[in-house]
Amino acid sequence: MINVYCKITNEIMILQNIRERASRDLCRIVLPEGEDARTVQAAGICANEKIARVTLLGREEVIRQLAKETNSNLNGVEILNHRTSDNFEKIARLYHELRRSKGVTLEEAEQVAKDSLFYGNLMVHLGEADGSVAGAINSTANVVRSALQCVGAREGLKTVSSFFLMVVPDPKFGHNGGMIYADCGVVINPNSAQLAEIAIASADSCRTMLGVEPKVAMLSFSTKGSAKHEMADKVIEATKIVKVRMPELEVDGELQADAALVPAVARKKAEGSNVAGHANVLIFPDLNSGNIAYKLSERLTGGTAIGPILQGLDKPCNDLSRGCTAEDIANAVAITAVQSQARRR
Ligand SMILES: CC(C)(COP(=O)(O)OP(=O)(O)OC[C@H]1O[C@@H](n2cnc3c(N)ncnc32)[C@H](O)[C@@H]1OP(=O)(O)O)[C@@H](O)C(=O)NCCC(=O)NCCS
Repeated sequence: MINVYCKITNEIMILQNIRERASRDLCRIVLPEGEDARTVQAAGICANEKIARVTLLGREEVIRQLAKETNSNLNGVEILNHRTSDNFEKIARLYHELRRSKGVTLEEAEQVAKDSLFYGNLMVHLGEADGSVAGAINSTANVVRSALQCVGAREGLKTVSSFFLMVVPDPKFGHNGGMIYADCGVVINPNSAQLAEIAIASADSCRTMLGVEPKVAMLSFSTKGSAKHEMADKVIEATKIVKVRMPELEVDGELQADAALVPAVARKKAEGSNVAGHANVLIFPDLNSGNIAYKLSERLTGGTAIGPILQGLDKPCNDLSRGCTAEDIANAVAITAVQSQARRR
């Protein structure tokens, strides 16, 4: 019972804090899946609670009908039928320009721009929106591919990845139970350079989402040479790269999960480490371990994993689970807005 109570309060506190921060400096967020009922409902929530200025893409009559059916007030929400927009040609030409070197013709670009997912992310590229949220209808692969093609990686990074904001009931882990888990959703088998970039982007995500300085644990089945294998070597190499690129960052590896999280174990296995025993950012060596770990953490602790949230993009674009609710979408809008505020800073 205590665990359930802690879980609810930790999760609500973290999400409430993110929504409040979004409200302080309203961003414009585009929701490409405007003809989805939950998305329409979420747009109403965002407008009423002043989480963001939202643009819904789609046919106005369809969106108004969905608003009626879901009892949503769309005052303050912009509706844009992208296919008939005056900007359509400009957006199609932008996609053509971005993808011409890949053999995309103007005619093909016009077809792509009809897809609201691509149109929305091209608006983000142009600065007509600060970020996008989609995935209630589209698959993760399509959402990520569209963000990669239309927005791309931010300066200084080559790898776009994702993280979960994991909230576990026990506040002694991470920051009041809040931790960053990465990558659990995008990069399937990163090499050491990519793993290092996942760690660098995750450190930033920790500052943005949890508002605390990151302590980054590069996880492995080995702690400080306790096992010898090329899989551990990849993590050791990635840790070295992070230390060279971000000398001020508190990062340590390779560490086993218990050494990363439990002070008593850290004292035995990784004495003298600033990170071990106190990690709030967990970097997994590949998508197998990351994806398995976040699901196990959720199920075994009664915790909540918020995400996947994309990181490393030039501007924030986020993915939803196709089983999401309107409240989940509103939370993703708040997270995207907070990421945009952080990028502008
Ligand atoms: C995200 C994903 C769809 C990208 O797939 P992809 O086939 O490489 O996509 P594309 O080939 O269309 O790549 C588009 C561009 O982005 C680049 N790219 C791909 N992944 C990238 C990444 N993680 N970071 C930066 N750039 C990336 C590609 O090199 C390509 O560049 P180019 O068009 O200039 O040559 C793929 O990594 C994936 O399926 N990941 C797993 C997603 C998943 O199923 N998760 C389940 C758990 S939630």
